[in-house]
Amino acid sequence: MTIAASAPGMPGQSRLQPRPDANGHAGAESAGRGRAGPQGRPLGESHGLLRAEARIDLDAVRTSTAELVRRAGGAEVMAVVKADGYGHGMLPCARAALDAGATWLGTSALEEGLALRAAGIDVPILSWLAAPGEPLAAGVAAGIDLSASAGWMLDELAAAAREAGRPARVHLKADTGLHRAGALPDDWPGLVAAALRLQAAGEIEVVGLWSHFAWADAPGHPTIARQVQLFAEAVETAERAGARPQVRHLANSAATLTLPAARFDVVRPGISVYGLSPGPEVGGAGELGLMPAMTFRARVALAKRVPGGSGVSYGHRYVTAADTTLALVPVGYADGVPRNAGNKAETLLGGRRRRIAGTVCMDQFVLDVGADRVAAGDEVVLFGPGTAGEPTAQEWADELGTISYEIVSRIGTRVPRTYVGQAA
Ligand SMILES: Cc1ncc(COP(=O)(O)O)c(C=O)c1O
Repeated sequence: MTIAASAPGMPGQSRLQPRPDANGHAGAESAGRGRAGPQGRPLGESHGLLRAEARIDLDAVRTSTAELVRRAGGAEVMAVVKADGYGHGMLPCARAALDAGATWLGTSALEEGLALRAAGIDVPILSWLAAPGEPLAAGVAAGIDLSASAGWMLDELAAAAREAGRPARVHLKADTGLHRAGALPDDWPGLVAAALRLQAAGEIEVVGLWSHFAWADAPGHPTIARQVQLFAEAVETAERAGARPQVRHLANSAATLTLPAARFDVVRPGISVYGLSPGPEVGGAGELGLMPAMTFRARVALAKRVPGGSGVSYGHRYVTAADTTLALVPVGYADGVPRNAGNKAETLLGGRRRRIAGTVCMDQFVLDVGADRVAAGDEVVLFGPGTAGEPTAQEWADELGTISYEIVSRIGTRVPRTYVGQAA
């Protein structure tokens, strides 16, 4: 089927004007071509689509965040916006999440926290992962909370505080079983004591105690209760030693959605802010009250007839069964389409699901559309919320043996992020 030209703007949706974000993403703006999408869905709001785009629905971010705020009970919500908002664009998503009731932001890298501050966001921000020698003074000066799992980090934070001329706000991290960052139970009292000495010297302020789950996406897994217990013990140890943290926090998306006992003062959902479930065992996005925010789509670059028996793409890992039409889709693994999606993942083109034919290349892949009429310029939806028959990021993840986090966060910088929904 050839997508018909038509379509005014999507009613009730305002468009965020293109505004380069901290990572250089700009909204692709209107070339003024109204078109209809799969199954006649109007695409007037997206007439910036040229080669490809990841269209982000900020109202979906709002809906999902509001649901997390509701489920968090009395706990505050720290929206995790690291890795460019899991590929969705950090700044617009951070603003939408704050608008919907999140009161903290979380990032992994310090420069992500600094980019939020540079954009004028003044809520509490925790940036939790640094290597020795990073410019922590800039973070301290910007009022960004930083995490410490070991003595060297406390020493660097104290030095940063002296340089910045204000105490560093520190969250001490306990390793309760993930065995990634954090101090193990045997080392925890020493970390707390060192932090309290620096606090007494006016160089740091211990504002938070925290930890992270290993297996919260498997509700009922025995490690979960064990980690909650070890965290409670770590908090008790620190408080008995004299720590007076403002916040204690442990829960990621899965725990926020399934485990009230893990909420403490703040929860730290990431993937669910963007409307995706942490995993199939936690539940589907819809049943969790989440709305997937990203639609990854492209336009067909070339359609042509080929005879039966034609090998397709590198290595001819797909061979046409009969005379057919091939459609070339101009996104590839450099754009975040995993190479191993070849002959596996499905897309939606012309109202029908089409599996990728053969190897995904760096910049392109091919679909076999059989006898259907497809033309250059037709829209291909790789994944989206699933509401128009397109696959979801979770389906891609299931097909490729990964998690939806990896599917969305690896969309490349060559793919413009465009925004629909109310801009904050
Ligand atoms: C320390 C920490 N907290 C919270 C999160 C958010 O986790 P999720 O995206 O599963 O909600 C992450 C994500 O990896 C994390 O590393």
